[in-house]
Amino acid sequence: MLVKNNEDLYELLDSLLREPTEFWDTFYKDKERNVPFFCDRPDEHLVKYIEKETIKPHNVLEIGCGNGRNAIYLAQKGFNVTAVDLSQQAIEWAKEQANVQNVNIQFICENIFNLKLESKGFDYIYDSGCFHHLSPHRRVSYIQFINKYLKNNGYFSISAFKENGKYGGASLSDQQYYIDRSLHGGLGYSKEKLQILFSDFQEIEIRDMQHNNLNQNEFGLEDFIVCLFRKI
Ligand SMILES: C[S@@+](CC[C@H](N)C(=O)[O-])C[C@H]1O[C@@H](n2cnc3c(N)ncnc32)[C@H](O)[C@@H]1O
Repeated sequence: MLVKNNEDLYELLDSLLREPTEFWDTFYKDKERNVPFFCDRPDEHLVKYIEKETIKPHNVLEIGCGNGRNAIYLAQKGFNVTAVDLSQQAIEWAKEQANVQNVNIQFICENIFNLKLESKGFDYIYDSGCFHHLSPHRRVSYIQFINKYLKNNGYFSISAFKENGKYGGASLSDQQYYIDRSLHGGLGYSKEKLQILFSDFQEIEIRDMQHNNLNQNEFGLEDFIVCLFRKI
């Protein structure tokens, strides 16, 4: 491969690590598996942002929507929802669920780094558990993506593994992932790392996800960090 530009370089680095589509298609094949987020509850922090009206119904893009549990909640709350995932299996499951709930969502099966949307921009971009599965060099593409598709004054949220948490969250140096040719099940993030990475955005909140064993209507896991930023 002849590297001619940044994108060629990112693709070269991608090729050193696992190709994600096959992995996620296999992951979503069996819907009965005991995976915490194979459920129909929306994330606890998302519910709070909507109930407190921090985020008001408008155009929202969900990145890595999985089975659609958060996209469906947002559609039920009156948002105009576009939801993207690179796994066909996940998107088919999400479409089924949206039909059952009788909500209208634009689902797109695509890797976000190949995505070309006609949209003039979204008021809110939501990511629950996708960012921590991206390789270090793709953080650069990710921030470009957010800047491209988020309107000025728009919000975006991430929920990610904390470092060395119960469910994952590797805390190696960025260099080590390429040496090992593995993301070790997902990268862990601290409040400080997220503040550095998203320093061009206004921090609204960064906190631990609330563990919601007792709340049957919301989803929350320990050892996750959730954050809300605003594009200024
Ligand atoms: C841990 S799962 C979370 C799914 C969903 N957000 C949830 O919380 O139930 C991560 C999701 O991100 C998707 N994903 C990973 N990398 C992606 C990429 N580059 N573009 C689009 N989707 C991606 C995977 O297919 C998977 O569905």
